[in-house]
Order: sequence, then C-alpha cells, then structure tokens
Amino acid sequence: MPKAPLQFPMPFLLAVVLGLFLPASLSADVELPAPRTEGGTALFETLKKRSSAAGGDFSPAEVSLEELSTLLWAATGLNRGESGWTVPMAEGLEPYVDVYVIGNEGVFRYDWKANKLLEISGENIKGQVGHQAFVRRAAWILAFASNPEGLAKLRNAEAGAEFAQVLTGAMTQNVYLAAVALNLGTRYIHSFYPDELKNGLKLPEGSVPIALMLVGK
Ligand SMILES: Cc1cc2nc3c(=O)[nH]c(=O)nc-3n(C[C@H](O)[C@H](O)[C@H](O)COP(=O)(O)O)c2cc1C
Repeated sequence: MPKAPLQFPMPFLLAVVLGLFLPASLSADVELPAPRTEGGTALFETLKKRSSAAGGDFSPAEVSLEELSTLLWAATGLNRGESGWTVPMAEGLEPYVDVYVIGNEGVFRYDWKANKLLEISGENIKGQVGHQAFVRRAAWILAFASNPEGLAKLRNAEAGAEFAQVLTGAMTQNVYLAAVALNLGTRYIHSFYPDELKNGLKLPEGSVPIALMLVGK
C-alpha cells in the first residue's frame, strides 16, 4: 500500500518558518566572559593600594565585560567547584545577598552559577539611585540586596539581617581588592534612595538594598 504523505498542521509549519528568521533568543541576558583569575597585583601590594576613588575621578570611560565579570566573581563567585565561594557564608549556605548590575544598557542580576547577567529591565537608572551627583558617572553600579529566599534557609533566622550586612562587607571588600588588581576605581556608597532601588531593581518582597559600589576608570 502506498504511504500517505506526512501531514504537518499549519501552526507547526509557521513556527518552523518563523524560527528560521528570528534570533535564537529574544532575551537580553548577557553571557559574561570568564573572569580573570590569574596574576594581578600581589596581595600585600593590593592591601597597600586599597582605597575609594574620589567621586570626581569617575570618567565616562568604558569598563569591559571581562573586567566586570572579574569584579563580580571576586564579590560572589564560585572558587572551589560547585559549593565554595570567594566570600564566607553563614552555615555554608549559597549566597544570600544578590548582586545587581546597573549600566547604560539596563539593570541585571548577576547569576553566579552561570556567570551571566540576567536582564531585569532595559532602563538606565544610574541617575536615580544615589544622593551624590557623581554616582551616575560610574561606568557600572553594583547594588547589593538581601535575598529573602536564601536567608530563610538559615537555622539562625533572627540573625539574617545582620548576616546579610556582614556578607555585603566581605563582598564589597573583595570588589575593592579586585579593582586594585584591574587598575579600576571603586567606591562604597550608602547614600542611596532605597525606594528607587527597590523599584528599579524590581527587588522581590522582603529584599533589602544594602549598598552600592561604583565602578569606573
Ligand atoms: C559603610 C560605608 C558607607 C559609605 N557611604 C558612602 C557614601 O554614601 N558616599 C560616599 O561618597 N562614600 C561612602 N563611603 C566611602 C567612605 O567615605 C570611604 O571609604 C572613606 O572616606 C575612607 O576612604 P578610603 O576608602 O579611601 O579609605 C562609605 C563607606 C562605608 C564603609
């Protein structure tokens, strides 16, 4: 008996044809280049150079994605396989402070597992988050905010807010040290508008913004 020709429904054919012409993904997530993890300034030299860049020192010069990737890895990257990080976490938990990245092209959350920036919005909010006028001049602004889901895993739950502050201190100090190695400027900023950050970063319920780090040349 002759075989009947294969029949495909019209929506399936349309999807195949459209798939040929549309980009593979419409998401604006950013795959980061691998961070730099070799060389750099020796530790004691780095400690001698650690400092905050003056506000007036931030220029519009670009900071590359490789440099950004290195700073983010220093702040909260895996350094020992699947469950060891560059910063110490209470009870050995996964990071319970998230790092957000604010740039000219939009707002992202750093995914430390995938070394990727997950798009939150395509808006440039650099001019809205800090009290000081120079904040907007940083090439990138890193924002640190507690992750309520992560903190909920603590046995010592009542210490959560305090532990998130401690973790932010460790993360931001690592950013200071990595910035020395990369010859970049950075500055810790506490004078920010929490509500602007909550809206601009689309923070989940219960997440508290803790600090900003300006990054520039
Ligand atoms: C908790 C904390 C909050 C800070 N807040 C701000 C701030 O809102 N604006 C600012 O320009 N610098 C801020 N800084 C940076 C300090 O002013 C800076 O670290 C200090 O002047 C010492 O300079 P150094 O980091 O070069 O040693 C803050 C630093 C810390 C640790």
